[in-house]
Amino acid sequence: MNDLIKMIKDRASIRLFTDEPVAEDMISELIDCALAAPNGGNAQPWHFVFCTDKAKLKELEDSQIAAIKASGNEKIIALQVARNWKILFNAPLVIWITTKEGKSAIDAGIAGESMVLAAQSMGLRSCFIGGASSAFHGPDQDKWKALFSIPEGYEVHCGLAIGHPDQENTPHALDYSKITRI
Ligand SMILES: Cc1cc2nc3c(=O)[nH]c(=O)nc-3n(C[C@H](O)[C@H](O)[C@H](O)COP(=O)(O)O)c2cc1C
Repeated sequence: MNDLIKMIKDRASIRLFTDEPVAEDMISELIDCALAAPNGGNAQPWHFVFCTDKAKLKELEDSQIAAIKASGNEKIIALQVARNWKILFNAPLVIWITTKEGKSAIDAGIAGESMVLAAQSMGLRSCFIGGASSAFHGPDQDKWKALFSIPEGYEVHCGLAIGHPDQENTPHALDYSKITRI
């Protein structure tokens, strides 16, 4: 098993980060790795918003927590209790992954995984946070899009929380029933 394959197999989502910021040179590498991803027809339909502004992130997290508490949805509330009411997990860097409206999210997802693996190779850890992106589709979407400088005409598919890990996690089991060989 080579180093890259080991890294892919060792990866697990991390849901608690230290206060240590992500260094600028690491952010530059993440930017390059996102932009280097394969994409349909080399149309590069994406835009990535790299946010290290903790006040903005806290505002979004506080709003989402309040909405979940008000929802009365027991399943989601139980999940949040298990996660100590953290949605962004104290991540010092959150990347909003967007594509032009109507364009496939696959390109953006591939770029996201490139950043996940690049982050891991630099000692960082990550967690995709699709739940947080619901703010960009709700009634206050204009406010959140403006706060996070989402370009006009772009759809937010997912967030990606990145930072230095403050917990450990083990990779999920591989389910070979999901594979068919013919
Ligand atoms: C598109 C996508 C959205 C996700 N959204 C969330 C999320 O909102 N909150 C969260 O804690 N984890 C989220 N995750 C992480 C998954 O829960 C995690 O990848 C899955 O449980 C498998 O665990 P692993 O990443 O540790 O292998 C998301 C993952 C993906 C790929």
